[in-house]
Amino acid sequence: MVEKSNKRDVIYTQTLEKVADFVFDENVVQVFKDMIGRSVPGYGSLISMMPVLVKKYVKQNTHCYDLGCSLGAVTLAMRHSIAADAVKIIAIDNSSAMVEKCRSYIAGDKAQIPVEIRCEDIRNTVIENASFVALNFTLQFIEMNERMSVIDKIYNGMNDDGVLLISEKISFDNEVEQQWMTDLHIEFKKANGYSEMEISQKRTALEKVLIPETEAQHIKRLKAAGFRKVMVWFQCFNFISILAVK
Ligand SMILES: C[S@@+](CC[C@H](N)C(=O)[O-])C[C@H]1O[C@@H](n2cnc3c(N)ncnc32)[C@H](O)[C@@H]1O
Repeated sequence: MVEKSNKRDVIYTQTLEKVADFVFDENVVQVFKDMIGRSVPGYGSLISMMPVLVKKYVKQNTHCYDLGCSLGAVTLAMRHSIAADAVKIIAIDNSSAMVEKCRSYIAGDKAQIPVEIRCEDIRNTVIENASFVALNFTLQFIEMNERMSVIDKIYNGMNDDGVLLISEKISFDNEVEQQWMTDLHIEFKKANGYSEMEISQKRTALEKVLIPETEAQHIKRLKAAGFRKVMVWFQCFNFISILAVK
């Protein structure tokens, strides 16, 4: 039997008269695992690297944050690979449907590291004593004029040598590069079974909701916040992940 929250994403298969703005509601929760795997190039590889990062950067007696945790893929990867003692994971999402499902996954998981899951807007989350913070494809959904204060707040709540992992869909200043990577992203989705109509309707749904920035904009913001080392460590087409060290 296919589990309720692991169904195939068919949300945009039918022609819609009007495509509504994308929201992380119950319908999305039910197909989210399939959706993110078939839509975000490199997502599985990125998650599979979490143990390497977590083992290296998570310190004893600290907190780890998963901001915009969705169903808890990053939280679970953290929970199964943290080697340091007395660590607590704090997972935050402002979609009650996501949080409810995430809670059930964590409840069914046997690992011992404590996880606190909160239904909360990450703009209001107090970050403290953090050795590792993940913003995995979440900042792109925050209003542009609020992104700096979110990054500042994370920086201020991190311990020295703490690490922020931030993954985002990116845009490109150069038109040729923009078109090139957009085309490859579309090919990726087609190869994963999405039709041209599904791809087009999803693009419309996300247009005002997911606002990508360039790699340079992200790096500039992280440096402005005070991070002493900032580097792109992963890229697949127009999706990147950055490590920033306090
Ligand atoms: C693309 S998903 C993140 C995927 C997830 N981090 C993973 O790796 O599987 C974006 C998530 O961010 C959440 N989100 C968006 N804006 C938020 C906000 N202001 N506060 C908290 N969560 C937010 C959404 O509800 C959604 O679950």
